[in-house]
Amino acid sequence: MANRIPDELIDQIREANNIVDVISEHVQLKRAGGNFKGPCPFHQEKTPSFNVNPARQIYHCFGCGVGGNVITFLMEYEKIGFMDALRELAHRAGITLPDRGSDRTGAEDDPAVVANQMALAFYRSCLDGEGGAEARDYVKERDLGPDVVSTFAIGYAPAGWDNLLSAARRKGIATSALLGAGLIVERDGGGFYDRFRQRLIFPLLSSGNRAIGFGGRAFGDQEPKYLNSPETRLYRKGYYLYGLSQARQAIRLSREAILVEGYMDLLSLYQVGFHNVVASAGTALTNEQGRTIAKYADKVFIAYDGDKAGILAATRAAETLIQLGLKVRVAAFPDGADPDSYVREFGPDALRDLLTSSQDFIDFYVSLNPTDSPDDREGAARSLIETVVGIEDSLKAELMLEKIATALSLRPAVVARVYERRRAERQLRGRAAGRARGGEEKQIHGRTSGDIRHGEAADRDTTGAHYAAQKGLLGLLLAGGEGAEYVRSHISASEFTNPDIRTLVERILAGSTSESQVDIAALIDPEDDSVPAVLLTELTVSESSQRDGSRLCDDYIGVIRKTQIEGRIRDVDKEIRAAELTGDERRATEAVVRRQELAQELSALSSDR
Ligand code: CTP
Ligand code: MN
Repeated sequence: MANRIPDELIDQIREANNIVDVISEHVQLKRAGGNFKGPCPFHQEKTPSFNVNPARQIYHCFGCGVGGNVITFLMEYEKIGFMDALRELAHRAGITLPDRGSDRTGAEDDPAVVANQMALAFYRSCLDGEGGAEARDYVKERDLGPDVVSTFAIGYAPAGWDNLLSAARRKGIATSALLGAGLIVERDGGGFYDRFRQRLIFPLLSSGNRAIGFGGRAFGDQEPKYLNSPETRLYRKGYYLYGLSQARQAIRLSREAILVEGYMDLLSLYQVGFHNVVASAGTALTNEQGRTIAKYADKVFIAYDGDKAGILAATRAAETLIQLGLKVRVAAFPDGADPDSYVREFGPDALRDLLTSSQDFIDFYVSLNPTDSPDDREGAARSLIETVVGIEDSLKAELMLEKIATALSLRPAVVARVYERRRAERQLRGRAAGRARGGEEKQIHGRTSGDIRHGEAADRDTTGAHYAAQKGLLGLLLAGGEGAEYVRSHISASEFTNPDIRTLVERILAGSTSESQVDIAALIDPEDDSVPAVLLTELTVSESSQRDGSRLCDDYIGVIRKTQIEGRIRDVDKEIRAAELTGDERRATEAVVRRQELAQELSALSSDR
């Protein structure tokens, strides 16, 4: 496994290079208030909209919407990778980087990170150690070779209740750190025990190759077959893709990814040369995971189990990925087979053939669903059209509609008409919601309401007061001080619906205390794309004087809660219509009552304000 530069050293290098000095070597900057301004090096412009903020050590361009810290600047300016940028900045500041392969240096002070790293080393050594025969046999039985074992840092948690606990104690690691990392579990009667016992361990590695959690496979048919770390501050299941850190480069180069369900599928494929493979491991593919894939790939081969559950999961994953603008192919494995068993039985060439001959989503869908009766064809058409409605790229949408018509022997004009109507309904809903929320937000960098690219369109909508309110609260949090304090005590991360903003709010709430300003330059992680850096830099550079933080916060929260209730009312309306349609009177009455309650809540909210 590649050694990684410790975070502390990265921070040190970043802090030793003043962003104004570094950027001034490439861009003519002039002071403008608290910021520096200059012509943007990333796009052609006449009036300077490129800002550098010395206090927060970040840059942001309002013209082309780029932003980041001193490391990302160098990466983008010189078109170099993270390590090269880091080396250059270290050199510039007279800091020596450890040689690749040398041991980690520098104390890590995040206790959960320390605990995970310790556990990683412990499990690794147990696999090689005296007591590891059972695990080594299992590794052999599953045909995992030494390369893949080392690349994925596979380990072994021995049988017994406190192997890790005792090893950690000897190393002076606090119980609270182990608990925080989800490595031990508290007993009802007091005391603790190891979470992972007698299992093969698959570390969940971050983009920087550190363990943020673990998955463990039982050796026999003990239940559960797989045990995973609980969600922690470091490990968020719905955002994590197993294998990404090893696959990233291969996906980036080929622009193609293979998506599998399980650890073993991934390892088997990787081992025989498919290096562009990631696994959703333990969750149905989420939008966030899909978005991460979409950063590196244009095309995804879905390789899920050949059973009924696998086919259903593949269908959902395909819908998610298609709506994110990705080309999707679905490989059909025989029932009872999964990529791991398939490749072991038939070999890599057979798998390659299977992938190359895999169907696009529409053919896959049509081959699985009955299309004999007119009702069946109608159902299939409506479901497929619904997927297309979520696609923003009109050319992609058009081509899919054509295919739907052909596949179901429908006239293209009819399919197009249904699609247009669904699309109009959706836009109307979006706009009406925007109006109800009260006015349009001013456009910051040329984003329009057409920029809704993703599945849950309303959540991704960046126009309207609801988005503005969420962004405003994020701005207050970033600014620190009393305003931030007030936000922290009055709203939780889960109430934010925009995924980018929610990610940031979660990070901020998890990572820092309220007294100080959030260290934005440190929050930007050039190796972790799940942090939308540009949103951070934009808000910080445009930081207005946040005079009356609590008042502003109340206003923003009011908008958010109002939108929540309006959403619930829309759901209840749908429920009422459905109940009426099926003649279910009781359900309809209940829903009407609920609607009245919600309407009351809404008006109470408005009169409070
Ligand atoms: N999984 C899980 N918990 C379980 C079962 C499965 O988290 N109790 C997740 C694991 O990430 C697993 C994936 O779902 O890798 C796929 O599950 P499954 O198909 O049942 O397992 P396989 O990957 O085929 O594992 P194996 O070949 O070891 O049976
Ligand atoms: Mn399997």
